[in-house]
Amino acid sequence: MALKQAVFLLGIVAQSMSHSWVERLMVFNSDGTMVGAPGYTRGTISRLDPSFNDFQMQHLLPQSSESGITPTDRICKATQTIGNYTTEFPSLQAWPGAFIALQYQENGHVTLPQLTPQKEDSGTVYIYGTSSPSDEDTLASIHRVWNEHGTGGNGRGRLLVSRRFDDG
Ligand SMILES: *[C@@H]1O[C@H](CO)[C@@H](O)[C@H](O)[C@H]1NC(C)=O
Repeated sequence: MALKQAVFLLGIVAQSMSHSWVERLMVFNSDGTMVGAPGYTRGTISRLDPSFNDFQMQHLLPQSSESGITPTDRICKATQTIGNYTTEFPSLQAWPGAFIALQYQENGHVTLPQLTPQKEDSGTVYIYGTSSPSDEDTLASIHRVWNEHGTGGNGRGRLLVSRRFDDG
């Protein structure tokens, strides 16, 4: 079975500011059971690290409500450069066609949406994939530009799927 490094770019976009990140990735086998070793996003910092705080993992865009999303806003946080994994938090290994779970830590986006009155719902997660990532990739050149056929924008990747953040 050929193992391949999975590369994902995530755009989590709601009408208003929101934040969350993929804590862990897992592969499903054909029975729908999660198998193998977990994978992580680049630049992952352990929640067990005494210096851990949410800001180390958050990449909030737009950076200010005045600026809005700018053409130079990178889709990945500066610490999420290509290959920035550790032995403790390696990338996910998966086989072609594998089904993959992206796991979030619930922090109220789904169960307590009323705490953020301007939020209408918990939003949509857009999952983009590429086998030729660039550290310079911007949100504006990918989100709602790359499409399912791989023909959008610079054509270096595609929209794998979009899903409700609240999966029930
Ligand atoms: C890699 O990620 C770690 C953890 O987020 C961060 O401290 C470090 O600066 C990153 N390195 C680079 C080159 O981005």
